[in-house]
Amino acid sequence: MCGIVGYIGENDANSILINGLRKLEYRGYDSCGLATISNGELQISKTLNRIESLTAAIQNNGVSHIGIGHTRWATHGGVCERNAHPHTDSYKKFIVVHNGIIENYLSLKKMLKEKGYTFYSDTDTEVVPNLIDLYYNGNLLETVKKVTSIIEGSFAFGILCKDRPNELIATKRNSPLIVGIGNNENFIASDFSAILKYTNKICILENDDIAILNEKEVKVYDKNLDPKQVTIKEIDADDSDSEKNGYDHFMLKEINENTITVKKTIDYYVIDGKINFDLNLTDNDIKNIKQIKIIACGTAMHAGLNGKNIIEKLTRIPVSVEVASEFRYSDPILTENDLAIFISQSGETADTIACLELVKKKGIKHVSIVNVKDSTIDRLSENVLYTKAGTEIAVASTKAYIAQVMLIDLFAIYLADKLESYNKEELSKILNYAIELPNKMQEVLEMDSMFCDYAKSISNCRDVFFLGRGLDYYIALEGSLKLKEISYIHSEGTQFGELKHGPIALMEEGTPAIVMATQEKLLDKTISNIKEIKARGARVLAVTTLKEFPVDIVDEVIHLPKVCELFSPLEAIIPLQLIAYHVTVNKGLDVDKPRNLAKSVTVE
Ligand code: G6P
Repeated sequence: MCGIVGYIGENDANSILINGLRKLEYRGYDSCGLATISNGELQISKTLNRIESLTAAIQNNGVSHIGIGHTRWATHGGVCERNAHPHTDSYKKFIVVHNGIIENYLSLKKMLKEKGYTFYSDTDTEVVPNLIDLYYNGNLLETVKKVTSIIEGSFAFGILCKDRPNELIATKRNSPLIVGIGNNENFIASDFSAILKYTNKICILENDDIAILNEKEVKVYDKNLDPKQVTIKEIDADDSDSEKNGYDHFMLKEINENTITVKKTIDYYVIDGKINFDLNLTDNDIKNIKQIKIIACGTAMHAGLNGKNIIEKLTRIPVSVEVASEFRYSDPILTENDLAIFISQSGETADTIACLELVKKKGIKHVSIVNVKDSTIDRLSENVLYTKAGTEIAVASTKAYIAQVMLIDLFAIYLADKLESYNKEELSKILNYAIELPNKMQEVLEMDSMFCDYAKSISNCRDVFFLGRGLDYYIALEGSLKLKEISYIHSEGTQFGELKHGPIALMEEGTPAIVMATQEKLLDKTISNIKEIKARGARVLAVTTLKEFPVDIVDEVIHLPKVCELFSPLEAIIPLQLIAYHVTVNKGLDVDKPRNLAKSVTVE
């Protein structure tokens, strides 16, 4: 989703902003732009193409020591150059980049038009520079405070004034924004990857903070304009995480990191055969849990479904998995003995954050599983477990999903151990099976040529079905999401038993169906369902861990190493991730940056 980077300092803003924008590309965008001030002249460049074409556009820009850049993911107004950021006021004095949504922009726009302001875009953002111009009293700090007190919604702003080339302003409400502190240079960014090349010292802005940066210093004020201490954090991340390291695409690199991700997660949390979680949950709290709600979006929600399966099996505590955008408006029934689990790779998903705030308000105990340290969910949660996936760049989540699944599996074992709800010996066997997983997953990665061949056979198809029962259905859902989000082939992840209640109507001669079969006790039912779709002409690929799977009833089979059934998603998703990847490459599409999608969905 939208990204912001801003610079003020002794070096040339142009190249630093371009580099920052490149690092933000992974969030997903449909246009981009930047503004700099050079010798009193304002220079704005925008493009609907990739960041590379901005580089060409700014070639003749003079050296500049201040600027703001933006990647836009359209919300208000279509994808066209005039809607791309930065935006200025009618007189081209104030320049703004914006992440978020200004909910009352229509009434503000009407008021501004009545006062003679002209609008050149369809965006909500354009009201902001015009409001700044309207209320400007010579003190930019006071003016920005006045403007942010009028606007409703969520925002992170980078603001420049053409007449004040020694000052960069930043402010935010419910949309992340950080300040980066360097030597004789300072930065703003919507996430630290944009500036990590230059500094790992950051200050995280809180809602309604206003930061004023110049080359030498950063001042932060609260919403009453009282100065605040600038709290500096050192980010423990490596810029090289955002390089492809010889792989053609980030997605391929990240799929190949699935194994190390699981290993790192286990090594971090399992010490001497015991799971160590540093949680503010007493044994009594755990014993009192009556129901668990797992709340998340997208792929993280699919990891939650896997969590439901294993937690219910090992603890018999009922678990429901809630889509965050629905849960927040559902007037949810929560009681004091509930536990809420939030799962988020980015820690910045707007709907998930809103649910976390709701749960906190009701005083419900919660644990969040996040990948990005210091993200909003990390900071707001009373308990956090970190997935050890490292930076994930490709929009389609792969290794982060694997890490979420592994971590929630460990959490289930941890609960069962505390509750003594499962045979102790069996439980430690299950934990040992987890420790063996990375080797098995590596074997699956090495079968890639098979997945590549299969991908060739479906690259030109219109529809693909992903089918399974029980846990296999959850794997199917995630496989289907991977394929549709990057290859744009329509796909459905369907409970195999439910297929005949509707979706089977779409089954035609040759329709590809990928059937997951990793659950022994459901094999007979799965076989009957396969026969039903074969009878309608489906071309069936079975992905199975079961030796007894009858290969002659399907067209193709991928046999995976046998693992403990509870962990089958961790290896069975790998072929599906790689199939989606190869199909997309075959179609010549942009694997890492699929159209319309964003990595970090910071608006609801
Ligand atoms: C977006 C991403 C998905 C991700 C979902 C939830 O849609 O493209 O890959 O699963 O958001 O994101 P989160 O950061 O909360 O896991």
